[in-house]
Amino acid sequence: MATSLPRHVGIIMDGNGRWAQLRRQPRIEGHRVGAQSVRDITRAARQLGIEALTLYAFSSQNWSRPVDEVAALMELLRDYLVDERPEIMDNQIRLFAIGDLERLPALVRDPLDALCRDSAHHRGMTLTLALSYGGRESLARAARSLAVQVAAGTLDPRAIDVEALGRALPTGELPPLDLLIRTSGEQRISNFMLWELAYAELVFVDVLWPDFRRAELDRCLEAYAARERRFGLTSSQLADTDSDVEPTSG
Ligand code: IPE
Ligand code: IPE
Ligand code: MG
Repeated sequence: MATSLPRHVGIIMDGNGRWAQLRRQPRIEGHRVGAQSVRDITRAARQLGIEALTLYAFSSQNWSRPVDEVAALMELLRDYLVDERPEIMDNQIRLFAIGDLERLPALVRDPLDALCRDSAHHRGMTLTLALSYGGRESLARAARSLAVQVAAGTLDPRAIDVEALGRALPTGELPPLDLLIRTSGEQRISNFMLWELAYAELVFVDVLWPDFRRAELDRCLEAYAARERRFGLTSSQLADTDSDVEPTSG
């Protein structure tokens, strides 16, 4: 049977703009309040004992938003990294980032690099920020890195299997993704963790991200705990084993 608490939770934090528009405020106000949800949910996940929390904060495609919104988001990210540093350091959280990080401006990149480096030895929970991130971009990059090794003669093409490709992804060291939550009522993946989602449970909630706090997370975890994860097997096969480990492709 599956353990009731997911090891790895991913969240598509959506609905900031609509939250602000409903209040006749500029979209950035929604992003600002959304940053409070990030703090609340990170703290809750840490307290619950979740091993890994991956937050989709800015997609590869979000670069095409109006320049003012992108600039304001970058400043909010910088503020978040500066303000959260003590909490992350004090609570043994390991900060990790995935995505095309070279595209980020130095005002984000510098505090991000510093906090990732300084928290790298922490064992409490891995908080991964998906920044300038796209699932397809991530897969293309992994394929390229394997191709480079093949061209250099250091990798046998026959060794490229599900495990090898998974390890070449930036999420390769994280536990398998168990639960994906998307807020705001949209039911799509929007280029998030395409590979890692293979056997994740999906939970879509109507709440806009700035309103998503611990009580909403608890409800999502309850929904997860009620699911039967079969990984391609039958229910009775699962009843015969008490394995809670995701089977590999074989
Ligand atoms: C999610 O909220 C945050 C980012 C994508 C950066 P949105 O800004 O997408 O909010 P909506 O979906 O327009 O309401
Ligand atoms: C997905 O939300 C990206 C993040 C939450 C960072 P979007 O608002 O960009 O996705 P679409 O445009 O609704 O697909
Ligand atoms: Mg959106």
